[in-house]
Amino acid sequence: MSRVARGWTQRCVACGTAYESDVRSYECGKCGNLLELVREGKVSRSDLFGDKSQPGIWKFRHALPLPGDASVVSLSEGYTPLVHVARIGAKLGLSKLHVKNEGQNPTGSFKDRGMTVAVSRAVASGAKLLVCASTGNTAASMAAYAARAGVTAMVTVPAGKVAAGKMAQVYAYGGKIVRVDGDFDAALNITLKVATEIKELSVMNSVNPYRVEGQKTNAYEVYEQLGYRVPDYFVLPVGNAGNISAIWKGFKELKEWGISDSLPRMVGVQAAGAAPIVDAFYHGRNSIKPVQPHTIASAINIGNPASWKKALAALTESNGMALSVTDEEILEARMDLSSSEGIFVEPASATPLAALKKLKGKIPRDATVVCTCTGNGLKDQESVKVQLETTPLVGSPEELVSLLAKTV
Ligand code: F0G
Repeated sequence: MSRVARGWTQRCVACGTAYESDVRSYECGKCGNLLELVREGKVSRSDLFGDKSQPGIWKFRHALPLPGDASVVSLSEGYTPLVHVARIGAKLGLSKLHVKNEGQNPTGSFKDRGMTVAVSRAVASGAKLLVCASTGNTAASMAAYAARAGVTAMVTVPAGKVAAGKMAQVYAYGGKIVRVDGDFDAALNITLKVATEIKELSVMNSVNPYRVEGQKTNAYEVYEQLGYRVPDYFVLPVGNAGNISAIWKGFKELKEWGISDSLPRMVGVQAAGAAPIVDAFYHGRNSIKPVQPHTIASAINIGNPASWKKALAALTESNGMALSVTDEEILEARMDLSSSEGIFVEPASATPLAALKKLKGKIPRDATVVCTCTGNGLKDQESVKVQLETTPLVGSPEELVSLLAKTV
């Protein structure tokens, strides 16, 4: 395996054991916990924000674990809009509510941030076959970056439980699709087991610490887009729990490097039918009880999240909150956001707004709140299909006029 880039250490998040080279299983050989990449020394404000010459998130390359000369596999990911959503904010009693619209990434989700780093690293290390288990977005993203790099992508997905738009993406990017008889958790389990045995496979799930490094750039961007300010609250959906771990790492780095002087409170949101992290946090347990997941938000239909330990640490360290929201609350929040702000997101991405509705009155009105809306609504059209079938049908100008007379 390739050596970790100069100036970086790879170590276990639990026991701290350090590794000089990438670890195939992404697990600590001593205690079995996940690994993280840590940059030695500090990145300066001008190094972090001054270089605009690179594509996508590679503007932050001083904070990314690739050697300076590695050529990167990029589709110009990142720099997604941070939109002040005043109308929905007024409904929720928040004057400074913002949506980080990650659906505007190249493949329509935040996964592209992590994928550009993980795929660049894998390809630079000689990988030819990339694999992941996925509820859809990771698969679409990995397949696109594999195509861009000229290597093969193979994805495992829970059969019948992935939005059609995401499957179409994987297919179109030339990825090989394998359906697993079970949930995402079963798909991930099978994939990780096989990948440890067959050395040609490189796993691109968020247990891969290079994914986390890319995804942390969301924190840097939000800080920059708020005029070099840390938000008071950062609200996001939690599934396999890689993203909350990554974004918290990004905010912590800004503070450790002396760039910012505060940290946000992280608010993790899960669907009620798939909420093992919320349950553990709520009951003050330091481990999760896996569940059989069931939610319309298929992207986060996960019952045994791999990065639960990092997620619980992020919630605890940030004095954060964890909430679960029902499928009805998710669909209502999604509709609220699209019809009052023009931002159409997939169901999982509406969970932060559904949670804020529940928290109404509990967060100060003038707090700066950022919701990360992780995926584009166009990927998952199944959840609005029924409503579309009941729209009026006309065959003549007269019929349209009479319809308008009733509606205008
Ligand atoms: N939102 C969307 C749209 C997602 O696709 C995911 C995860 C999440 C939120 C949760 O992020 O897993 O880092 O906590 N999707 C993965 C996938 C599992 O396979 O696409 P997380």
